Amino acid sequence: MKKIVILFSGEGKNLHNIIEKLHPNVCEVVCAITNKADAKGLNGLQTKSLQAIKSEVLEHTSFSSREAYDTELVKLIQSYEPDLVVLAGFMRILTSVFTQNIKAINLHPALLPKHKGAKAIEESFGSSDTMGGISVHWVSEELDGGEVISQKSFLKSEDETLESFTRKIKELEYELLPETITKILYKL
Ligand code: GAR
Repeated sequence: MKKIVILFSGEGKNLHNIIEKLHPNVCEVVCAITNKADAKGLNGLQTKSLQAIKSEVLEHTSFSSREAYDTELVKLIQSYEPDLVVLAGFMRILTSVFTQNIKAINLHPALLPKHKGAKAIEESFGSSDTMGGISVHWVSEELDGGEVISQKSFLKSEDETLESFTRKIKELEYELLPETITKILYKL
């Protein structure tokens, strides 16, 4: 069975969705790692499946540099020997310590290469773009700049609000990320 590690920082809705759709039949989620001790996504991992999903908290606040944090993160990830690492709302800028050692994909809530960065939903909603959408891409040294693997999009409606726009993005994320993980792991 292929193994994945998932990194997250907050709500963890994508983390929980991946577990529900893929674990343990398509792949094994061997660990969920967060940089925030109060991440909401930590809740419920114990009861997520017949066997609890293992989680680890590695807080970035106790490290003096991004490189020092990434060194520990890489060690922790490698101890689980995953086939793939999935960044699902992991809100950290990563250094080459991470990108040169870990094969990872990232979920981004916009149609890359447009609207990189942490305010992607607000920026793409506020732009003159006629479409909204999401991307899954390989993690590289450039923030949100690695090769795009898959995307899904929708037409903005005339009465679109930030709330409806955000909801459409989330719905697409829950479809595309598990699909893409499956395709990468089994080279479909
Ligand atoms: C998701 O919408 C994801 O696209 C976004 O964070 C959210 C995490 O939600 N990621 C980024 O903005 C990365 N630049 P979740 O914690 O509920 O899965």
